Amino acid sequence: MWLTNLVTLCLLVAATTNGDKQLSDHATSMADNSASLAFNLYHNMAKEKNLENILISPVVVASSLGLVALGGKSSTASQVKTVLSADKVKDEHLHAGLAELLTEVSNSTARNVTWKISNRLYGPSSVNFADDFVKNSKKHYNYEHSKINFRDKRSALKSINEWASKTTDGRLPEVTKDVEKTDGAMIVNAMFFKPHWNEQFHHKMVDNRGFLVSRSYTVSVPMMHRTGIYGFFEDTKNSLYVLSIPLAHKMSSMIFIMPYHVESLERLEKLMTRAQLDTWLSKLEDKAVAISLPKVSMEVSHNLQKHLGELGLTEAVDKSKADLSNMSGKKDLYLANVFHASAMEWDTEGNPMDTSIFGTDKLKNPKLFYADHPFIFLVKDNKTNSILFIGRLVRPKGDKMRDEL
Ligand SMILES: *[C@@H]1O[C@H](CO)[C@@H](O)[C@H](O)[C@H]1NC(C)=O
Ligand SMILES: *[C@@H]1O[C@H](CO)[C@@H](O)[C@H](O)[C@H]1NC(C)=O
Ligand SMILES: *[C@@H]1O[C@H](CO)[C@@H](O)[C@H](O)[C@H]1NC(C)=O
Ligand SMILES: *[C@@H]1O[C@H](CO)[C@@H](O)[C@H](O)[C@H]1NC(C)=O
Repeated sequence: MWLTNLVTLCLLVAATTNGDKQLSDHATSMADNSASLAFNLYHNMAKEKNLENILISPVVVASSLGLVALGGKSSTASQVKTVLSADKVKDEHLHAGLAELLTEVSNSTARNVTWKISNRLYGPSSVNFADDFVKNSKKHYNYEHSKINFRDKRSALKSINEWASKTTDGRLPEVTKDVEKTDGAMIVNAMFFKPHWNEQFHHKMVDNRGFLVSRSYTVSVPMMHRTGIYGFFEDTKNSLYVLSIPLAHKMSSMIFIMPYHVESLERLEKLMTRAQLDTWLSKLEDKAVAISLPKVSMEVSHNLQKHLGELGLTEAVDKSKADLSNMSGKKDLYLANVFHASAMEWDTEGNPMDTSIFGTDKLKNPKLFYADHPFIFLVKDNKTNSILFIGRLVRPKGDKMRDEL
């Protein structure tokens, strides 16, 4: 008995000295809940007509919901927990769990990715944010607070966009061109994410190729290439490929789900439940894969207010029902906007390649993963099982190519 305990103790010590700190139960369950939120939110957004690229960070959305819970009272606050599937979780555990999760997954040093996250809560000039709320939302969610006067709409928009640009080192020049509802609280998330691949792509093997937005519309994009050993699965029944590219330190990976040929992503999106993703991931096998990926950056901004309302946050977004009085001490606020904006840059950079397998049989007859048409992607965290990003690339930036047919 004591021997087992001793072994356990040694393992614990080994794990801690490794810097591999265990996640608390609260953070673990929030990671799980935010992964469910990822699929609910993605599906809700995908229903939107005329929406092309999607890019959301479910863990950041979850922490913004945490902020709403912090500022909300009674049913306005409890609805947040329902959306996060955390009805039974105590407030302090919710906030501590979400804060721990975000700190863990956004640690650039430990994870060797660039992920800058800046959050701001804007209120109309008439509002006075309560000191406690300001303190706690800074502590748990790293939120800044600011008042904004929309009487001069143009300069209000300018100041929001300038802030977002500055905090992302210019990668995200614009959060929004316009704000419809100017009489309430406004959440703004501004992010810049750049994966550092576990094995870099060839810096010099970048060329312009056509990306088929649809069967009749092609844009020219730079493509980067490399062949290596990757987790790969070809789902022949559903005519799609699943590919996992680890990011540096292998603590997270970027997962691609791409149909064989160009098509609207609706069919794949219908298939893509959380359980289906797990099934696909369980079928990945290490294979030689020749990958060609657009070397592009995407800047996407969504107003999630309506979508969160549709997922059950009906009170916070409703001026006549919202009780956010823990934000200001008065019942004078509702959630008018939730701007969630990110820039993601896919580049060749990464750790050195494993050259020992070059010229060996291992790279013979590679599978082809040629990403020249719309696909879905996720950044999945290995340690917490949370989803750092989920999105789709439908229309990369690039000039229209002439029809060559
Ligand atoms: C509102 O804020 C007060 C003071 O910070 C806190 O004690 C209380 O628990 C909060 N209420 C809710 C519903 O969060
Ligand atoms: C980030 O990770 C590094 C290396 O593992 C660690 O030393 C540091 O304390 C972490 N930072 C935070 C804020 O947790
Ligand atoms: C990732 O690691 C590489 C190699 O150690 C280093 O050059 C790069 O700056 C790191 N990037 C980040 C964001 O930590
Ligand atoms: C990440 O996941 C992969 C595949 O499931 C596994 O082989 C690898 O050991 C994991 N890495 C870490 C750091 O957990």
